[in-house]
Amino acid sequence: MSNGLQGRVAVVTGGAGGIGKASVLSLVKHGAKVAVVELEIKSALSVVDEVERIGGEAIAIKADVADEASVESMAKTVLKAFGRIDVLYNNAAALGFEMQQSDGAVADMDVNTWDKAMAVNVRGPMLCAKHVIPTMISQKSGNIINASSGMGAQGEVTRSAYAASKAAVMMLTKSIATQYGHAGIRSNAIQIGYLPPPPGSKKTTPKQVSEILDAHHLIPYALTAEKIADVVLFLASDQSSALTGSTVIADGGFSAHTPSMNEINAFVRSIGQNSI
Ligand SMILES: NC(=O)c1ccc[n+]([C@@H]2O[C@H](COP(=O)([O-])OP(=O)(O)OC[C@H]3O[C@@H](n4cnc5c(N)ncnc54)[C@H](O)[C@@H]3O)[C@@H](O)[C@H]2O)c1
Repeated sequence: MSNGLQGRVAVVTGGAGGIGKASVLSLVKHGAKVAVVELEIKSALSVVDEVERIGGEAIAIKADVADEASVESMAKTVLKAFGRIDVLYNNAAALGFEMQQSDGAVADMDVNTWDKAMAVNVRGPMLCAKHVIPTMISQKSGNIINASSGMGAQGEVTRSAYAASKAAVMMLTKSIATQYGHAGIRSNAIQIGYLPPPPGSKKTTPKQVSEILDAHHLIPYALTAEKIADVVLFLASDQSSALTGSTVIADGGFSAHTPSMNEINAFVRSIGQNSI
């Protein structure tokens, strides 16, 4: 364990999910006390158990990030338990199977799906920021990290609601950075790329789709929740003190190259001009 975040208090929304739980454990291993915020208290409590098994300190809070009264009460509970709030990691998002199935192209859009994506993925981070910023201002320091996605940066044939919500999160990040930088509050987003579902996960990706995604992934290892948690840790730490209002791209190079990379590469290889 390192103690770079000793004495700091972090809030992680969706803290029992894949990236959320990995982030909680990483922040705890580096000295932070963490509030694990979840829709269901049971899943948050099981993460608190894991934290306690490694000698850390965490509390479980049931809250729906889309609901202002719930978020306001969550922020008060964290303050009461730990006395300060240094880091907010807005990680929760509406990602269930039903959301994925009903979130299609614009002409087919189900309005309830659109509204839910906006409520959880955009209103949620805004509300959590709204209710921790006064505490951060009084501390003269704070750090708000927002989970975005490659889908918020590049056009896709599906998931229009999710994509628009994740683009909004990148701008929310810049607004917070612009409005509260003077008070010592930083805000950065992470443009997260594709994580293959871990073994045993309920999530699946059709083989044909994962092969296409893999073909555009530049490094020889897949992204994992732990690798994204390392980015969260960096942004939560003083090692990133020069960054605010930025979006860190953590996608294994998926968005770094031209969309025609594979076709051009195959062509130049076919005429014997490329040894890559
Ligand atoms: N996994 C990926 O490939 C990927 C790629 C790009 C971006 N992201 C982003 O990373 C973040 C985490 O993704 P993940 O794959 O770990 O998701 P996940 O589904 O494993 O976890 C999300 C968690 O959020 C919680 N949650 C959902 N709605 C909530 C609400 N209203 N209030 C409180 N909690 C709520 C869920 O209970 C769940 O535990 C999300 O913001 C997601 O959009 C993930």
